[in-house]
Formats: sequence, structure tokens, C-alpha cells
Amino acid sequence: MDIILLGPPGAGKGTQAARLQTNRGMIQLSTGDMLRDAVAKGTPVGIKAKAVMAAGELVSDAIVSALIGERLDSATEGAIFDGFPRTAHQAEALELLLADRDRKLDHVIELVVDEEALVDRITGRFTCACCGASYHDHFHLPKIEGTCDVCGSHEFKRRPDDNEATVRTRMAEYRAKTAPILPFYEEKGLVRRVDGMASVDEVATAIDTILDTSQ
Ligand code: AP5
Repeated sequence: MDIILLGPPGAGKGTQAARLQTNRGMIQLSTGDMLRDAVAKGTPVGIKAKAVMAAGELVSDAIVSALIGERLDSATEGAIFDGFPRTAHQAEALELLLADRDRKLDHVIELVVDEEALVDRITGRFTCACCGASYHDHFHLPKIEGTCDVCGSHEFKRRPDDNEATVRTRMAEYRAKTAPILPFYEEKGLVRRVDGMASVDEVATAIDTILDTSQ
């Protein structure tokens, strides 16, 4: 099963994709994670993407579509597209990438959220520097202060684009370039909506229901 998780910054795409990966053996394909990895390694893609990401703008369609194309074949049990596609061009590129492999999208799951509440979600977010487990200053602290629940590391990090000014630019980019791709998928009958303001567990249950009833 191949699905897209769609929603503005902080909607919970990464949180839910990680759960689906653990519980269902699907593979999370996050263009944001791929780009951050490229930036950290200083690859040619990372050098091009670094300033664009720091400003909260979108990296070029060609770069992100190529990143997805390189990894799609690894998702034999199904892909969770997290943060991709983000423009009409990327949506078209994904259609071709899937068709070339005799695959097709099963669902586009839109996480419906209140953007103002998301600013708090994002600016409070931090992750384990070792295993990437996600935490939040108010909603999800490690059980033992300063120690990752998953791997026991004591090092945590915050994303450089998780400040309020950049978050507002990222949301404006979402409204201008990403939300307009929804009608493309609506025409295909693929869009399912989930209340992204519910708890992480409730959102996960709603997504599971969608996936289970379509099998
Ligand atoms: P990307 O990494 O994709 O960031 P994003 O879309 O802005 O989304 P986030 O990762 O911020 O949020 P999320 O929805 O995954 O939420 P999360 O689960 O973490 O992209 C970053 C940048 O890379 C872009 O700005 C762009 O420059 C570039 N880029 C990436 N893809 C691109 C593409 N295709 N084209 C062009 N450029 C691209 O949750 C957020 C927080 O809320 C966490 O702390 C979490 O614990 C908490 N939380 C989650 N769910 C809930 C809940 N239900 N209740 C309470 N708290 C919750």
C-alpha cells in the first residue's frame, strides 16, 4: 500500500509515518529527513538546499523528486510519502515514478489542523540526537528527564527551521503551493481526512481504520 500523509508543518506527518513504519513494515519516505541528511553530510544537494530550508522555502522539484525516485524501490511493503509531494509538479512526478513501477497510490490522508496551534507544536519540538525519537517541551517529554526513552542517549537537538518566523513562512508555502494539489487527488477519490488536532494515539487509530478498511 502506498500512501501520502499531507498536512502543514507540524501536522504530525512524521510522527504518524514513524508509527506506521514500526507497526506495518511500510517505509517512511520523508523528503525533509533526506534533505537534512544531505545538509549534514555536505553533499551537493545539501549545499543547494541548506539556505532554502533555513528560510522555510521549498527546495526545487527536480531535487526532491530525484530523492524519492532513488528510494522508492526500497519500500517493497509500501511507502508513506511524508512531506512529498508539495507542489503540482511533484504530484505529477510521483504519478510517473509509481506508474513506472506498476504501483499506484492507495490513499492521500490529510491531517486537518488548526495552524495557530501548530506554531506551539513546532517550536516546542526536539529529537534525540542519537536515534531521532521525537519529543515535545509540553506534550511529550522523555520519561526520565534528559534521557531518551528509546535509546538512552542524553543528547537532543532542535531543527534550525523550527523558529516562529520560519514556521510562518513554511505555512505560507504550504497554503500557496501544497494545499492546491488536494483537488488533483480528490478527483481521483483518494483523499481521506483525519482530525490532526486529536491526540497522537487517536490520530494513529483513525489512520489505521482507513488502512484496515481498504485492504
Ligand atoms: P519537512 O521536514 O517535511 O517539514 P514540514 O512539512 O514542515 O513538517 P514537520 O516535519 O515540521 O512536521 P510534521 O507534520 O512531520 O510534524 P511532526 O510529526 O514532526 O520539510 C522541512 C523543509 O525541507 C521544508 O520547509 C522545505 O524547505 C524542505 N522540503 C522538504 N520536502 C520538500 C519537498 N517535497 N519539496 C520542496 N522542499 C521540501 O510533529 C510536530 C510536533 O508535534 C512534534 O513535536 C510531535 O511530537 C508533536 N505532535 C505530533 N502529532 C501530535 C498530536 N496529535 N498532538 C500533539 N502533538 C503532536
